[in-house]
Amino acid sequence: MSDIVKIFDTTLRDGEQSPGASMNTAEKLRIATQLEKLGVDVIEAGFPAASEGDFEAVSEIAKKITQCEIAGLCRTSKNDIDRAWAAIAHAARPRIHTFIATSDIHMKYKLNMDREQVIRATIEAVTYARTLTDIVEFSAEDGSRSDRDFLCQVFDAAISAGATTVNLPDTVGYAIPHEFAELVKYVMKHTSHMDKAVLSVHCHNDLGLATANTLAAIAAGARQAEVTVNGIGERAGNTSMEEVVMALKTRPNFFPMTTNIDSTKIYPISRLVSMITGIIVQPNKAIVGANAFAHEAGIHQDGMLKNPMTYEIMQPETIGLSSNKLVLGKHSGRHALKSHLKEMGYDLSDDELNLIFTKFKDLADKKKHVLDEDLEALVNEGLLRTTDIFCLQYLHVSSGTTVSPIAGVKMTINGRPIEGTAYGNGPIDAAFIAISELTRTKSELLRFSVSALTGGTDAQGEVTVRLRENGLVALGRGVDADIITASAKAYINGLNRLEYLKENPFQASEVL
Ligand code: KIV
Ligand code: ZN
Repeated sequence: MSDIVKIFDTTLRDGEQSPGASMNTAEKLRIATQLEKLGVDVIEAGFPAASEGDFEAVSEIAKKITQCEIAGLCRTSKNDIDRAWAAIAHAARPRIHTFIATSDIHMKYKLNMDREQVIRATIEAVTYARTLTDIVEFSAEDGSRSDRDFLCQVFDAAISAGATTVNLPDTVGYAIPHEFAELVKYVMKHTSHMDKAVLSVHCHNDLGLATANTLAAIAAGARQAEVTVNGIGERAGNTSMEEVVMALKTRPNFFPMTTNIDSTKIYPISRLVSMITGIIVQPNKAIVGANAFAHEAGIHQDGMLKNPMTYEIMQPETIGLSSNKLVLGKHSGRHALKSHLKEMGYDLSDDELNLIFTKFKDLADKKKHVLDEDLEALVNEGLLRTTDIFCLQYLHVSSGTTVSPIAGVKMTINGRPIEGTAYGNGPIDAAFIAISELTRTKSELLRFSVSALTGGTDAQGEVTVRLRENGLVALGRGVDADIITASAKAYINGLNRLEYLKENPFQASEVL
């Protein structure tokens, strides 16, 4: 059995199914580029049959990424497989990932199919997929709640038809670690030809056990883990990439196997995914939370000073969290900025650098020390959202104890300038009303939160909003030294994401 555990990252597919986390193609490309640097074996780039937007993003990622396999998800129908193949065919290593549900409850109520029909659909799909590519993964959706012997029968059929990986998902996050490990052992023992395929697991976190279940499965013999950065995903999310990778790395006595991941890229990609999706990482999140390496208790601090290993099982540098960050300021030049951004994983073209350098100088005029978090925000806002429909040009607010809050806003809508003013209960309310009048949108603000991006009184404010319009939900994020401007940026970002969702309705949601 191999001593390498393959890391199959599905941040761009299952992760994007987190409510409100839709990403545009430029954002997905940015994440895919970082996933490649992180060293994941497989990037599941999307579900091409689900929407035009998904198709385009998968296709662009397949063109750009050379070091990872690029997977496109599809149901077992020929149409779905053809669509996935059209999106990934030009990848250096294209993987078709086809799936069908195997639990009695899913087959009866969702698929309206019996066991025979499911086995036939599996064989046809895998056989057809293998005529297109040599790398085919088959997933038994709701596998953990399926009849064990039937599951083995389906896996055997898939492998005999040519599947190179068979995936056992805990789709509804129902499994318990030792039970899941038993199931993995059972499947390995009772599936004929299991030696011809890799057994993969894909866990959801409804009971908070996704990482535990994945690790138990690896200990029992699974050799591919399907994960997302920061554990994002539908409902309570998916198995978190950073938790699995660091558990394997930190406890080699329990796990005599490795991954191809460069762990020093974990923290930067965690930040990037959080910034792009607008999904904030909880402070106490294992590995990448803001408090994961913070020691408050005096007795701990004392021990740490004497020997960090007293209370620290991992060193922050291992995940790319540098304690002595290089600080840039208003005297820093273009070259220093370029090389620092490169170290952070952003390899900018000259034009991109010029744009970011101007924004950097503006920020350095307001803020003495420009930190990594500030630079990430500049790059994200400056480069990734160039195709936005709504853009903020100018915001002026007036408010205080004796005046009615009023906001004047100038924007462009598809490049066309437009301006207006509005009164509100407070300056942010006034800005939001002016923006919604100008954009003629009627979204409902479900959540608004503001935090400081870094320490210090001159820190930039980071605002996230959650918007709903006609049943569609989107998150928006904005960063600025002025929190009212950050709020307006977040609101506009959320509106742009809603526009993207309107243009790219997810057509396959009923089956996932
Ligand atoms: O959770 C699940 O079952 C899935 C499959 C499509 C692999 O995401
Ligand atoms: Zn899933």
